[in-house]
Amino acid sequence: MGWSYTGRHVPAEIQATIEDALEVLSLEEPGAREYFMHSVLCDWPDDVCLTIVARIFEAMKPRYSKFIVYEIVIPATGADCQATAVDWMMMVMFSSSERTEDDWLSFFERGGLKVRNIWSMENILESLIECELAAPDPYRSMSTCV
Ligand SMILES: C[S@@+](CC[C@H](N)C(=O)[O-])C[C@H]1O[C@@H](n2cnc3c(N)ncnc32)[C@H](O)[C@@H]1O
Repeated sequence: MGWSYTGRHVPAEIQATIEDALEVLSLEEPGAREYFMHSVLCDWPDDVCLTIVARIFEAMKPRYSKFIVYEIVIPATGADCQATAVDWMMMVMFSSSERTEDDWLSFFERGGLKVRNIWSMENILESLIECELAAPDPYRSMSTCV
């Protein structure tokens, strides 16, 4: 595909897995209404996730395409006890964690997406995170003109 991943903190034994997955993701349909991922991003830190989703974000059409992720989201208060149990498991087993709501918001902001809604249901472990491409900031370039 002529596209490679060169993350600095990726162990050699999983590099090939990432490259295989990226080859599949590089075939993303451009301008689709929806792109969906379940239980993929939770396995990786933000920097690797941004590489995984790069082709999807590039393929998305502004004000039309949605990126929907079905993952655990830990809110600031009132978290589901199953979700916090998995969070503890991640800590004990992998020195890792599940993402909080703020973690997801900042991850998608870094990637240029805006979270439109997080859909959660009582006693359901995971939530649907609905994202769109963020509108470009009309004032961004003006600050350089002052
Ligand atoms: C826990 S499974 C979830 C599988 C499936 N999405 C589901 O919901 O049942 C994690 C999946 O992440 C995918 N995966 C692992 N590393 C990936 C990467 N770097 N990029 C994209 N997908 C990856 C693998 O295909 C693996 O099956």
